Amino acid sequence: MASKIHKICCVGAGYVGGPTMAMIANKCPDIRIDVVDINEKRIAEWNSEILPIYEPGLSDLVAEARGRNLFFSTETERAIREADIIFISVNTPTKTYGQGAHRAADLRYVESVSRTIAENAEEPKIVVEKSTIPVRTAEAIRAVFDASETQHHHEVLSNPEFLAEGTAISDLESPDRILIGGEQTPGGLEAINQLADIYNRWIPEERIIKTNLWSSELSKLVANAFLAQRVSSINSISALCEKTGADVDEVAKAIGADSRIGPKFLNASIGFGGSCFEKDILNLVYLCEHFGLPEAAQYWESVLQMNDWQKQRFADQIVDSFFNTITDKVISILGFAFKKDTNDTRKSPAIDVCKRLLEEKATLLIYDPKVEPTKIYDALETDEENSNVVICSDPNQTFEKAQAIVVLTEWDEFKDIDYEAAHQAMQKPAWIFDGRNVLDHKKLTGIGFKVRSIGKPNEA
Ligand code: NAD
Ligand code: UGA
Repeated sequence: MASKIHKICCVGAGYVGGPTMAMIANKCPDIRIDVVDINEKRIAEWNSEILPIYEPGLSDLVAEARGRNLFFSTETERAIREADIIFISVNTPTKTYGQGAHRAADLRYVESVSRTIAENAEEPKIVVEKSTIPVRTAEAIRAVFDASETQHHHEVLSNPEFLAEGTAISDLESPDRILIGGEQTPGGLEAINQLADIYNRWIPEERIIKTNLWSSELSKLVANAFLAQRVSSINSISALCEKTGADVDEVAKAIGADSRIGPKFLNASIGFGGSCFEKDILNLVYLCEHFGLPEAAQYWESVLQMNDWQKQRFADQIVDSFFNTITDKVISILGFAFKKDTNDTRKSPAIDVCKRLLEEKATLLIYDPKVEPTKIYDALETDEENSNVVICSDPNQTFEKAQAIVVLTEWDEFKDIDYEAAHQAMQKPAWIFDGRNVLDHKKLTGIGFKVRSIGKPNEA
């Protein structure tokens, strides 16, 4: 069936808008896609050789379509006027003020885009919530449209994004599912089918789930909450392993072999980070409270409490290992991104761990292969004047006179470091705190390191 969609506008050129639209542009060369943003610098970067976000495979995808049917600009009003379908892909951070402060989602950017659509659309459009939003946000968007002078009936769809950073391109190429929610009216169902037709160009029909609006909106928050809950669950068990001599990786393997549990997302760590898990769970907690369900709210809040405890516990272990004195000690920090294969540091657990070590007046030599130094300084609320925070461009620079190596992100290249040479360059006793359980601990102990890891019998 020929698609009725010839032009797409995506408002928000971030981690979701950029890669998602690059994939659609590649799969649908006949559709023109305008990705627009208010951030001029970001748009200039999307139009340059060095893209604003690092994601394996992204630059090739963008290079293929940019200037052909994929365009990045700040011309939001024009792109909205011309588009058949408009994706709202703006940020939805946690509210920091007023009612619902530190819990509810701040929907001001979504509302602002809705207003711009209401003011500029000259005929009815399909408007797609791509951002993660609280259940019933479509009602608020519709209220903005209904109050506008034109009063066009734009169909509002929910089509949450499930990509994970670091694997965004393969996630977009071959998603487990595409979720589309819409009104169960003839117009709503027709809009759902039009959006499904786009995805159906490369995603089999059986993987496209169609639901009502509210199920789709809520499912996104719930998916993130369940994923985060698994990490908190295994992290809680990691603490018990350390006390009992069990090995958390062996436990994860044993329970993950049960097909009802499954093996994924059971890597014990220093805690989860990233821009979304915390904010989306807070949002879920707020919704439960709002609808008078304090027990359900408390249940989900405990996932966050466990995560905070795990970060704190790991940092405390480092300080304890030095008998509570790390003042003036040099510590090598390997990794700052919230996970490997991304340059994103939002809510990275590395921030909490580093801040705690800095409170104790340690000197940190930090290396991350993809995170720009300014992002690290900003995250730690400091700058290059601070001699306790030194950003290195090579991991080997971080070992000189260091007392400990602390692995905070699971970058593959950390496995290939010459730890014999590192050990020689360091002060003795030399420690390794492996916050991601990615190194060969037996080998490191053989070299002479004292090793502490997550959820393992620690044989220092
Ligand atoms: P981001 O901050 O990287 O990008 C959002 C962009 O929207 C920014 O560049 C901002 O300038 C732009 N923007 C804000 N208001 C605007 C306006 N009125 N007009 C034009 N542009 C505007 O955020 P992100 O990480 O891409 O996340 C976007 C949404 O997708 C969030 O709701 C998030 O929860 C959700 N999400 C994110 C991920 C992820 O991996 N980062 C995955 C799935 C879902
Ligand atoms: C997560 C979800 O996986 C995506 O489906 C979702 O679209 C996205 O949030 C979002 O809504 O933003 P992302 O945060 O990019 O994706 O990355 P994840 O792979 O989920 O990792 C999140 C955090 O959990 C990372 O800090 C990671 O290191 C940690 N993690 C993950 C563990 O500690 N252990 C694990 O087993 C898995």
